[in-house]
Parts: sequence; C-alpha cells; structure tokens
Amino acid sequence: MSHQPAPYEAEPDAPNLDFQGTTPYEDYVQASVLTHLQHPLSDDPGEMAFLVTTQVMELWFTVIVHEWQTAAQALREDDLPTALAALKRSTYELESLNASWKPLAHLTPAQFNAYRSALGEGSGFQSAMYRRMEFLLGEKSASMLVPHRGAPRVHAELEKALTEPSLYDEVLRHLARQGFAIPESVLDRDPARRYEPDPAVERVWQEIYSGPEDSGPARLGEALTEVAELVWRWRNDHLVATRRAMGAKTGTGGSAGVAWLEKRAAKNVFPELWTARSHV
Ligand code: HEM
Repeated sequence: MSHQPAPYEAEPDAPNLDFQGTTPYEDYVQASVLTHLQHPLSDDPGEMAFLVTTQVMELWFTVIVHEWQTAAQALREDDLPTALAALKRSTYELESLNASWKPLAHLTPAQFNAYRSALGEGSGFQSAMYRRMEFLLGEKSASMLVPHRGAPRVHAELEKALTEPSLYDEVLRHLARQGFAIPESVLDRDPARRYEPDPAVERVWQEIYSGPEDSGPARLGEALTEVAELVWRWRNDHLVATRRAMGAKTGTGGSAGVAWLEKRAAKNVFPELWTARSHV
C-alpha cells in the first residue's frame, strides 16, 4: 500500500507553507547558492570551519566596503549625517567580523597542518575585497593589482578603487570645504598613491579635538577613530591566530609569514587622528 502524505491543513496563525515555485526567502537570500559554495580540499573535518570563516569574512568585507563607499559619497556631497550613519553601521559590522576569528583563534600547528598543504599557494593576501578595504582606508598600492591580472572583472574593480579618492581623501576634502586648513598638496595628491601623514592635517585634527566634542568634524573624527581601532584589531587578531597556528613558518602566499604580518599590523589607520591626540 503506497503511503500518501496527509492532506495539508493550515494551523491557525501558522506561517504560509504553500508556494508556487521557490520560497520568497530563497529568492531573496539565495541560501541554496550560498550553502553549496563549500568545497573543502582535504578530508580533515576541521577544514570546513576554516573555509566557512574565510567566506563569512569575505561577506563582511563586502558589506564594509559598501558602507565606506556610502560614507565617501556622502562626504563628497557634504552630507555628514548619512556619512556618520554608514560609518556607525560599519563599526558594528567590524565587530562582527572580528568576532568571527573565534573558530580559528585556537588552532594548534598540528590542527592547521591537517589541511594546510591542501591550500597550496592560496592565501588571504589574494583577497580582492580585503584589498578594496585597504584602498578605501588610504593604503593604496598598484602592485596589489598584479595577482588579479587573470580575473578581468575583479582587476577592473580594484583598479577603479586604486585610482579613486579614498574614504580618508574625501574626509580631508570635506574638512577643507568646512574651512579647515588642509594643504593644497594633500587635496591635489595622486589618489592612487599610499596616503602619507602630513603635519598640517595633524594640526587640523588637533584644532577639531580642542573644540566642542559635539561638532560635526569632532563626531566624524571619533567615528573614524572607531573604524581605525577595529581594523587594527582585525589585523592583530589575524596576527595572533597565525602565530598560534604556524609560528614563524613562511606563509602559503610566499611571504615571511608572521614577520611580514607584524609590519602590516603595526601601521596606523588614519595616522594623524592618533598623533594629534598628543597635542590636545
Ligand atoms: C589561522 C588561519 C590563518 C593563517 C595561519 C593565516 C596566515 C596568513 C599569512 C602567513 C599571511 C601573509 C601572506 C602569506 O604569505 O600568505 C596572511 C595574509 C592575509 N590573510 Fe591570513 N591566515 C589565516 C586566516 C585568514 C582568514 C580567515 C582570512 C580571512 C579572509 C585571512 C585573510 C588574510 C588577508 C586579507 C591577508 C593579507 C593581509 C595584508 O595584506 O596586510 N587570513 N595570512
């Protein structure tokens, strides 16, 4: 006797169960695509957490890039409330990004070795979305486009991000339009080059921080400081996780590993926002 499913009877107040095609949730979230993108390269059961954590971080990078682009565009239009709202959202997202280190923060060398060789030359260094974050922060470098020559769309997006003014460039241009003495040499700088700290910009932040705490520029300064601290934390959490998982071995991407990451992690994001504090 064949087993017939019981006829569907809706419970009162229960959600709708009956859809013609795929569910509206699926149509929006594309969960079936997202949850079928996990293809571990080894048989080690721990690799899934490594792969998914990396994918989760890529998604957070994507949202954060979106927020900082929104903030940069708003600053171009001197729309401070929209810029501050986007920066605020990005700090909550950065906190979630940083919390995603948890599954990888305690790897032993033996646990990491169980799938490390399967990664080949793959390295987060080759993450184009992370590079776009760094470019938006002002950490520009044309050589970082080289690994992406084989992927035209990614390369074009990165090239655009390299040549566009960074979020910090837009901040300084906005401050100049508000009457602050940002030098012409900073305003006219080649946006494709790494931002170098400038004593006159430091004096502007000093002036802003010596004034009322609720002024627009002061609130902008604090929102950027929050972003800078959380980016610094991501770099340092990455550094410690790497030190725990592989000591001083060379990286899969070919760098010196921890020694190279230490230099990267030591860099200050929005440098004058930190140095100006000594003079307030
Ligand atoms: C415990 C696991 C991890 C280890 C041992 C590790 C190790 C390394 C090492 C040694 C480097 C230097 C480049 C190289 O030679 O490969 C690097 C760079 C990098 N890694 Fe990881 N990594 C880990 C997890 C992750 C995760 C989950 C992400 C998320 C996407 C990530 C993103 C990056 C990025 C963006 C860089 C470049 C940093 C920069 O340009 O300053 N890493 N990693």
